[in-house]
Amino acid sequence: MILRNSLLFLSRQKQLRRWMETSSASARLTKRFVAGETLDEGLAVCRKLYSEKILATLDHLGENVTSLDEAQASTAIGLEAIRRIADAKLPSTISIKLTQFGMDLSASACEANVARLVETAKSRGSYVEIDMEGSEYVDRTLAIVNRLHDRFQAVRSVIQAYLYRSEKDVLSLSERGIPIRLCKGAYQEPADIAFPEKAKVDENYKHLTRLLMEKGTFPAIASHDPNMLQAAKQYAKEFHVPPDGFEFQMLYGVRRDLQKELVDSGYRLRLYVPYGDAWYPYFMRRLAERPANVLFLARTMLQK
Ligand code: FDA
Repeated sequence: MILRNSLLFLSRQKQLRRWMETSSASARLTKRFVAGETLDEGLAVCRKLYSEKILATLDHLGENVTSLDEAQASTAIGLEAIRRIADAKLPSTISIKLTQFGMDLSASACEANVARLVETAKSRGSYVEIDMEGSEYVDRTLAIVNRLHDRFQAVRSVIQAYLYRSEKDVLSLSERGIPIRLCKGAYQEPADIAFPEKAKVDENYKHLTRLLMEKGTFPAIASHDPNMLQAAKQYAKEFHVPPDGFEFQMLYGVRRDLQKELVDSGYRLRLYVPYGDAWYPYFMRRLAERPANVLFLARTMLQK
């Protein structure tokens, strides 16, 4: 816990971040979890994964934007990614965070930006996955997801199993036929809105997985936890959901052994592939999720 909190603290330190992002050792350090700094590098990873029968969702690593001009710039980056994915004939999607599109500045401008992405993705036979951020954004995010689904039917929402409210959200999104990516949840949340104990989060994750297999639309089970994967396979059988009626999702570079196992057993797997130059906070959060990754980091730094 102390190590995790220290890493999360370091993830917010600006000077360390600047040093890391410009240090020559950085490419070697990050390449395990981040595709590279450019869209070309992101697409190259998607292509390689597809040759291994693994799907991808590309995430441009950015920050909460501080002006609507920056939100426009994020929109241009997203549009370019959608077009290049389609031109390359890859079955990849993009994943986005609404705060990169102006959510903190103007909900309507944010929605207009994201609508352009969703409309373009739909016209190219794809869709947009809308990540879920901290709890203060959940209502606003779901409102936008619902409206964009009504207009385009080309969005996937994210639900976090650590939130007490998530059962209600799973049911209401599922009733409207909105696909859901279920994850445990990555932010620090207070005990009055999120389960503080990991065991309870896991229990709720399984419960929501069962609901999704019973009532959901093309669920995505996003986890590296073998117990969650096992539960999903079991519930899929119970509700006669075929292996191509749902997908597993994992982070690029995490539990590659499990990734291979799923694909070899005929399951559909999509990896979340981040790219971009603002990689430092993402990279530090991945380290914080698993202290053993710090050993990996130390080994890599010592390698010539
Ligand atoms: P858990 O944290 O219990 O880990 C289970 C096991 O997985 C660990 O014991 C370890 O073996 C392995 N593992 C997990 N993380 C690892 C790492 N970084 N390195 C090495 N091994 C690791 N969250 C959110 O709040 N909003 C979102 O939109 C998303 N989106 C999203 C998309 C996708 C595709 C994934 C896979 C995850 C997310 N998340 C997310 C993150 C999610 O909420 C969660 O923080 C992480 O996935 C870790 O949770 P696990 O389910 O893997 O279980």
